[in-house]
Amino acid sequence: MGAIITILFLLMRILDFITTPLFKYRARNNRHHLPPFTNDVLRISATHIARKIRNGELSSIQICEAYIQRIKEVNPILNAVVEERFKEALHDANLVDEYLKTTSLNSRELSKIKPLLGVPITIKESCSVKGMSLCVGLKSRVGYKASVDGEVVARLKTSGAIILLVSNTPEMSYSWETFNNVTGYTNNPYDTTCTAGGSSGGEGALLGSAASLVGIGSDIAGSIRLPALFNGIFGHKPTPRVISIKGHWPQGIDDRYQDFLVIGPLTRYASDLNLMMKVMCSDKWNLELKLNKEVQLSKLKVFYVEDIRGSVALPKVSPEMREIVRCSVKYLWKNCGVSIMDYHFPEFSNVHLVCISELFTLKDIPNAIKWENASYPIELIKSLIGKSKFSFNLMYSYFVQGIYKYAVGNHTQENLALKEKIISQLGTNGVIILPTSIGSAHKHNQMYFKNIYSYLVIANALGLPSTHVPCGFDRSGLPIGVQILAAPYQDRLCLAVAQELERCFGGWVPPPEETV
Ligand SMILES: *[C@@H]1O[C@H](CO)[C@@H](O)[C@H](O)[C@H]1NC(C)=O
Ligand SMILES: *[C@@H]1O[C@H](CO)[C@@H](O)[C@H](O)[C@H]1NC(C)=O
Ligand SMILES: *[C@@H]1O[C@H](CO)[C@@H](O)[C@H](O)[C@H]1NC(C)=O
Repeated sequence: MGAIITILFLLMRILDFITTPLFKYRARNNRHHLPPFTNDVLRISATHIARKIRNGELSSIQICEAYIQRIKEVNPILNAVVEERFKEALHDANLVDEYLKTTSLNSRELSKIKPLLGVPITIKESCSVKGMSLCVGLKSRVGYKASVDGEVVARLKTSGAIILLVSNTPEMSYSWETFNNVTGYTNNPYDTTCTAGGSSGGEGALLGSAASLVGIGSDIAGSIRLPALFNGIFGHKPTPRVISIKGHWPQGIDDRYQDFLVIGPLTRYASDLNLMMKVMCSDKWNLELKLNKEVQLSKLKVFYVEDIRGSVALPKVSPEMREIVRCSVKYLWKNCGVSIMDYHFPEFSNVHLVCISELFTLKDIPNAIKWENASYPIELIKSLIGKSKFSFNLMYSYFVQGIYKYAVGNHTQENLALKEKIISQLGTNGVIILPTSIGSAHKHNQMYFKNIYSYLVIANALGLPSTHVPCGFDRSGLPIGVQILAAPYQDRLCLAVAQELERCFGGWVPPPEETV
């Protein structure tokens, strides 16, 4: 059965090879640069900004204004915003500043109860912010607003964060490219002719361009980590079920949906991931995940996989991405004294079968075609010529889903066996360093010819936490990076390694600016 998938992926590789020059040719002369930013407030981590606000060194108004200004500068170029609430956010910021003038609590006490007090934040549209758009790219939902806050959004508000906007995502958040027919394409700040990735592409583009400090995304098959990779920032896909997905739209009715879909943070500074995780997890999970406990890196076992070999279905990882895996390992060995493990998970050679198919064992993957009583073949053809109420993007995702459902056998046993193997190898002190995807961002619409997801889906199918770490740029000047996987509930290991590798590679670097 797997032969069909292998042939299709091989066909995709051939088509990709042929069409890449055409995409490049079509994109020539279309590139726009972002205006430069001079406000140094935009270069302070959320952890430091929160402290400065509490100590009265900076006002929340001043920070929110700086971010709003930057969003207004870059959004006409990036198209990442679905709906903003700037006026309300400034009002909230003012309340914070007033509160700080009168409160009897000291900075330490405030940091416990309101760790994000006055810090601006952006949210992927699918995560439900009360009163804001929850259309998620579907034409039939234009104007639909969230009636309540999602559980994570409510936690963020309680922690004092100030929401600036909801950001763009593909139709139903079901694609690796951020496009929908309501808001349109979101562009990559490092090269606007390229995609911001998906599905948390609006967040990715805003953070990459310094127009957001911290963001919230969701990930069912790479949707936090791919935009983090393409836009040069950090993104953490938590262990499933440690952060509530209540209020996310769409949502499946199968209880196992929560084993795949997670909500997680995107940040520009590695240390902010830990702060965000603490806010987003309940008290119980804060304790269980030991988020406050320091990781002893010298006790860490580091596995690494440069490239998954063994199947023609899997495209090759770019040489630069392979090199940063080696550099990461070397750095951790030299500077932190970790143990490097000589086991490279040959089992991964079947991930395109064993992992992706697992996702499609879900009984109910939200399906807009069914809801709207439409016919798939007809909408598929109509979407190709822009006449469907659905985007071709969504139709393509349903195509991939359909192929897997009908042409790939049951791999649940193998999936379980792989999960057990990984858990026993990693234990409570092991991580795997793996390319996040096969390369840097591609041109808009090139996704249809690329298997960019096999490396991403591993963490979803096996229920592992995974952090994307930006590690510099490739020859085209686009961000590249690695993901750090750990056993379930060992999120802190991923976050600790991310902080080390930020020191090694320099972390987030602003995109090229227009020359004045
Ligand atoms: C689709 O069909 C079902 C059952 O016939 C009906 O309840 C529902 O309202 C229909 N949906 C739309 C969007 O027409
Ligand atoms: C939506 O689709 C129509 C028809 O193809 C097109 O004219 C319009 O520009 C699209 N809008 C967006 C925001 O992509
Ligand atoms: C796949 O196989 C597993 C056990 O091997 C079984 O529990 C599960 O129901 C099967 N799934 C499907 C969709 O047939």
